Amino acid sequence: MTFNFRPLPVLSALSALILLGSATQLLAERELRFPVNPPEPREGQYVHVPPTLDELETSGMHPELQRVIRRGHDLFVNTQQLRGENVFNDMNCSSCHMGEGRLPFAGPVWRAAVVLPNFRPKNQHVNNLEERIAGCFTYSMNGIPPEYGSDNMVALAAYHQWLARGVPTYQLTDYYGRGYSIDRPDEEPSYERGQALYEANCALCHAQDGSGMRVDGTPHFPAVWGDLSYNWGAGIIRHHTLAGFIHHNMPLGQPYTMSVQQSWDIAAYINRQERPQDPRYTGDVHETRALYLDTFHVHGDYGTEQQGRLLGDHDNLGEKPILRPAVVRPRTFQ
Ligand code: HEC
Ligand code: HEC
Repeated sequence: MTFNFRPLPVLSALSALILLGSATQLLAERELRFPVNPPEPREGQYVHVPPTLDELETSGMHPELQRVIRRGHDLFVNTQQLRGENVFNDMNCSSCHMGEGRLPFAGPVWRAAVVLPNFRPKNQHVNNLEERIAGCFTYSMNGIPPEYGSDNMVALAAYHQWLARGVPTYQLTDYYGRGYSIDRPDEEPSYERGQALYEANCALCHAQDGSGMRVDGTPHFPAVWGDLSYNWGAGIIRHHTLAGFIHHNMPLGQPYTMSVQQSWDIAAYINRQERPQDPRYTGDVHETRALYLDTFHVHGDYGTEQQGRLLGDHDNLGEKPILRPAVVRPRTFQ
């Protein structure tokens, strides 16, 4: 088994060379998929190229472990197989974590396997990898997460940890391509400009009304708002997060064609449409906004009036049968 261990953030000449090597490999890989290159790594950033499933074959790992990791991969890219049980919208994990959760600037998920457990401001306690995965089920998938320790949860976590192969744990460093980062826009984002851009560049796949496109009942292009999309508690309802996602990844196959400003404009348009209720809803949208304002809602428009509508002022859960999954609870470790 080989480990690509790279000590950072102190950048020695050797590690700089190794970094450059893997960055070039990464860019080359990305170029195969997309016509435009992602930003270059900044000095001192940690670059990781996650292993592929082909590499799993030759990893020497126990065949049963390989099977479970493959099961995790299958759940990650086809999460719709859990529809009606854990997933109540049209998303797969890979709808937002593109390239099987491996692509930089598309929320590569391996990082969670090496920085968790950690304190998470969103829920104000220490979360491990399973709880972080449960978070995306709860909000992004408008769902009810698989039980901690269940076969599906263990398989998903195993896939994340496989992707992180060789990365040292708990480095307090800057990871190249994590999340969906973007600069601030020059001008205040505009709903009207966003609408025009959405209709010209996005509606083809995601539909004029945001509901996406289905082929033979199977979601093909996921919904960006409405009942079949992510709910009001999802990380991507934050304008900077959605803008970053768009800038680096959309339209599909044409990343970086929407400028920073255009990406913020489209984000302002999409995230001022309705979607299922935030699972932390108290029954009053103003109160819910206020409760999670500093740690979350300050970055979005939930509970504010936009285009003459008070956003999130309803009991609509989409297809989900209950408001709040049991995993959404405080932990005290007493
Ligand atoms: C609607 C979009 C969306 C979907 C679908 C989604 N996620 Fe996420 N996910 C996000 C966002 C946004 C973040 C936060 C990125 C950031 O930190 O800026 C995130 C973060 C994560 C992280 C932490 C990554 C890190 O860098 O710490 C993990 C792990 C994760 N998601 C796993 C999953 C899994 C597993 C699924 C499917 C069950 C899933 N996600 C579905 C949007 C999504
Ligand atoms: C050619 C079809 C196509 C076009 C055009 C397109 N998308 Fe997407 N979009 C996709 C697909 C497919 C995914 C899911 C990613 C995957 O499965 O690889 C996606 C995912 C998304 C997501 C995350 C999942 C969700 O549904 O919320 C958002 C947000 C999004 N696109 C916004 C946009 C925006 C904004 C534009 C226009 C600038 C755009 N897309 C243009 C096909 C498209």
